[in-house]
Amino acid sequence: VMKACLCPTDHDGAAEDCEVPDLSDTEDDDDEEQWQWMDENADVAVTCLFCDRLMNSVAVTLQHCQANHGVSIPDLVKRHRLGDYGYIKMINYIRSVVNSLKHILDGACPWENDDYMKPVLPDDPLLQIDLEELCGPEVMVVGKSDGEQLTDLLVRSQQAEERALRSEEALAMAMQDLHKLKLLAQDLVLNADTTRVSSAAGPIAELREDEDEAYFSSYGHYSIHEEMLKDKVRTESYRDFIYLNQDVFKDKVVLDVGCGTGILSMFAARAGARKVIGVDQSEIVYQAMDIVRLNNLEDTITLIKGRIEEVNLPVDKVDIIISEWMGYFLLFESMLDSVIYSRDMYLAEGGSVYPDRCNISLAAVGDAQKHQDRIAFWDDVYGFKMTCMKKAVVPEAVVEVLKPETLISEPSVIQTIDCNTARLSDLEFTADFSLKITQSTQCTAIVGYFDISFDGGCGNKVVFSTGPRCTKTHWKQTVFLLEEPVAVQSGQDLPGRVTVRKNRKDPRSLLVTFDLAERKLTYSLQ
Ligand SMILES: C[S@@+](CC[C@H](N)C(=O)[O-])C[C@H]1O[C@@H](n2cnc3c(N)ncnc32)[C@H](O)[C@@H]1O
Ligand SMILES: *[C@@H]1O[C@H](CO)[C@@H](O)[C@H](O)[C@H]1NC(C)=O
Repeated sequence: VMKACLCPTDHDGAAEDCEVPDLSDTEDDDDEEQWQWMDENADVAVTCLFCDRLMNSVAVTLQHCQANHGVSIPDLVKRHRLGDYGYIKMINYIRSVVNSLKHILDGACPWENDDYMKPVLPDDPLLQIDLEELCGPEVMVVGKSDGEQLTDLLVRSQQAEERALRSEEALAMAMQDLHKLKLLAQDLVLNADTTRVSSAAGPIAELREDEDEAYFSSYGHYSIHEEMLKDKVRTESYRDFIYLNQDVFKDKVVLDVGCGTGILSMFAARAGARKVIGVDQSEIVYQAMDIVRLNNLEDTITLIKGRIEEVNLPVDKVDIIISEWMGYFLLFESMLDSVIYSRDMYLAEGGSVYPDRCNISLAAVGDAQKHQDRIAFWDDVYGFKMTCMKKAVVPEAVVEVLKPETLISEPSVIQTIDCNTARLSDLEFTADFSLKITQSTQCTAIVGYFDISFDGGCGNKVVFSTGPRCTKTHWKQTVFLLEEPVAVQSGQDLPGRVTVRKNRKDPRSLLVTFDLAERKLTYSLQ
């Protein structure tokens, strides 16, 4: 059987280095053989027929077309009894139609040709409406009288009808596929419209109480506070910073945003603060009230239950804001939004937020064992294929402690945040990075973590890291698995681009997108 060739200039299929799957002859083949053949084509960049996604094999692309766009190319080949040329023409046809659909959405008008005067549906009601009624008068700026226009229209539609009749058969065939593409275009338009428009206060400040209830109840139970308090790297960094810089806290008014059990408020009170106000919306604040009394600090510390965005503080301004707001991969939970809100609302001129400096870093990971365990696992589960599960497993970032010996690059800082100056827009960003590879092996994942420093305006700085080479913390690390490992050489720079943004549907969770080695992968963190 002749192998079709995708090279547009080669019409006799003679090129040696260029093959497509032998789709015309597959009716009796078993599917496995077909996919296996295609897997040999790994490491090419294939653009999806219907979206911008790049994949690294024909097999993955065809599966994606079926799973994500509901179009089975092998079925189409069978249904239309396509030979090699037919297949090539169909692929190029779909690509060109999808391109023009994208152009239309971008403002192009590829329907200038009079052929489009011929109705596609007989008596299409959509063609019998009054445009002026639909869009208002401004679209009807035309030079000819209605009568003239009508004659023009009739003549043109007659000519068009003749031309179109000749290609009716082709049209009918295209119709079915077009229908699917139309649905697709609708999808594109609808999806383009779903971003929440958020005001200056930001999506967290605007969450309704019921929308945010799950978040605050997760802090209501003692266990999460036990975990945080027992994280010595975390809690001792706050304690050391506050106790080592008593001069900074002496006689100051301090706001503790999200006080939890009140631990930071009590550190500040012990360090000589004149007044400490702790605010928390979670039920844990009732425990904090007892804790403060147990330690005879109720004259210094005032606790308020409520969202910082909604409560009335007993003071207009504070000198210092302390808060432990950091989430997985730093920004998960989006609690920094509330700290920025508090700063802009309550911090006095010359006041400070602690901690203040934060870095988010990435590094490359080579852990074939782990990769096997989490990805290849699904190829054979008790003798069954569960390969489709990979599509669910890969896009979820994993919070776990990484073995430092699996690091195969130097780290690279992708974002620096200074809590004294950061704006909400800094918390969603795109950054180019380059990972200096230190080992020739397969890169199986990217790891993310953050470093924190208590820095500005104090004599004794304190720094801690949640990186894989440091004492582990309850934040662990955040691991982004690559479905297909990337071969890397020691000394090489592995370039990439990362985008971190809030999930519009749930602004407390994050979406992290990587462009890396021709792959584009979006991970959610929840
Ligand atoms: C990570 S915990 C830290 C608790 C305590 N400061 C500590 O260091 O142990 C964050 C706390 O902030 C509270 N919180 C988060 N956002 C808040 C907001 N907008 N208003 C009030 N409390 C908030 C949560 O309920 C939670 O108890
Ligand atoms: C953040 O990264 C910068 C540049 O690499 C470095 O100078 C700074 O010390 C880092 N800060 C923290 C808190 O690790």
